[in-house]
Amino acid sequence: QENHKGRDDSRFLDQFLPCSSSLSLPGPPGHFLIGNMMELKHDHLPIHLTNLAQRYGSIYRLKCGTTTMVVLNSSEVIREALVKKWCDFAGRPISYTGNIVSGGGCNISLGDYTEKWKAQHRLVHSSLQRCCKKSLHDVIERQALHLLKVLMGYKGCAVDLSEDFTVAASNVITTLAFGIEYDKSSSELQELHRCLNEIVALWGSAWISALDSFPLLRKLPNPVFAHLLKEVVRRDEIIGRHLNNYKQSQDKKNQDVITGSLLQGLDNQNTEDKALLTDIHVHMATVDLLIGGTETTAAWLNWMVAFLLHRPEVQELVYEELCTVLEGRYPKYSDRHRLPVLCSLISEVLRLRPVAPLAVPHRAIRDSSIAGYFIPKNTVIIPNLFGAHHDPEVWPDPYSFKPERFLNEGGGSGGGSTRDLIPFGGGARLCLGESVAKMELFLFSAYLLRDFQFLLPESETSLPDLRGVASVVLKIKSYEVVARPRPVTNP
Ligand code: HEM
Repeated sequence: QENHKGRDDSRFLDQFLPCSSSLSLPGPPGHFLIGNMMELKHDHLPIHLTNLAQRYGSIYRLKCGTTTMVVLNSSEVIREALVKKWCDFAGRPISYTGNIVSGGGCNISLGDYTEKWKAQHRLVHSSLQRCCKKSLHDVIERQALHLLKVLMGYKGCAVDLSEDFTVAASNVITTLAFGIEYDKSSSELQELHRCLNEIVALWGSAWISALDSFPLLRKLPNPVFAHLLKEVVRRDEIIGRHLNNYKQSQDKKNQDVITGSLLQGLDNQNTEDKALLTDIHVHMATVDLLIGGTETTAAWLNWMVAFLLHRPEVQELVYEELCTVLEGRYPKYSDRHRLPVLCSLISEVLRLRPVAPLAVPHRAIRDSSIAGYFIPKNTVIIPNLFGAHHDPEVWPDPYSFKPERFLNEGGGSGGGSTRDLIPFGGGARLCLGESVAKMELFLFSAYLLRDFQFLLPESETSLPDLRGVASVVLKIKSYEVVARPRPVTNP
């Protein structure tokens, strides 16, 4: 068994020598017609790919029809591809169905690395920065306080909190994007989520991916595909309505929300960018933010509470720290440096359950190499973040929930290998919402753990199942919990 760790010299020489194509990547044997397609049909793909790494090393290949995929399973090889050689691997695979859900490749997350994509990324990044600087902290604080109120209303009954977490995360994004906060019972909010979730789920289904691998199937009737098309139309109706409202309104305040700022940015495009971006890019970027920003944060909050039920003493340590440091007040994001125990909890949950466990597939846009192996143009790269976070060479006892691994000997921040914690990917395709997400995870968890103790319901005999259900987002199976209010502290 050979893995990249014994190949440091060849990687060093890599900089000076052309890559040797004679080194063929290891990987499981495949069927002569469909290759390793069945390997990708596993019910928990991140775990399966991580298990294959034990056999084939931290970089191996899978064949899927005519497509070669290279799976990266350690932070070292992932950083080499995504960060060090970002300009070789910044592309996205182009697919028939991907084009349909992304308005013809006009979104950020599935769009290929082209001049248009770069202009769109610049525009969305600067609008997001501007709006976040102005209002992100206040928006999250308001949603966190609202979430506390909702939990208080349950009066200690056993409940599944996943919908409340989704509404809180979603409201942060809809407030930033449209200046709109929804109520849990809002029919538009429910419709938007139902529709976005359906699109993500249907797009991941075998009925749809078969259309990418076997083009002839596109000629046959396919009710799942028809359903997907219908949901895409519905999504575009809802987002289109909001964008039209902004276009028709002359209110200057609209520039404070992302969609207003994006539309304004379109008008101000410099000559270089002119004709590159149109309304469809603003429309699809809004979809990106809504999809990227809702299920991820909500899934993470569900994981955090579940892990704490497994180790209640960690919850007590976080609570004690919050009481001592904050002396009764609610935290600000700037308090994070004084709350190492809470931060260690956040890092450990991100390590064990990176909510986008396989990131989004990348594509080599030119011939390159990783760990000394030749990687031809158009190879699909799968960064297995879940695998990298369970690498026993980096993380002792990798499958155990141990936030203390991120604390130093004095109990402060700085323990563990934070450099190898890569839940947001890296390089040109680094998660666009990383700073939004980090502030949300910190403030939501601090508010929740300051005011509530999370307990397993008395009627429940087993703790939440921590294996999870893996799709594009790694979610926990639904479970119930009791949120018992902590004694009132006077700020
Ligand atoms: C992409 C993780 C929250 C928007 C990604 C990627 C990962 C990730 C791993 C793929 C990186 C790659 O392709 O290499 C996470 C995690 C989150 C989170 C762990 C929360 C715990 C958010 C939020 C937003 C967002 C809150 C929006 C406000 C995006 C977008 C992309 C992306 C637009 C596509 C970037 C591109 O293709 O260049 N995220 N994300 N994410 N994320 Fe996030």
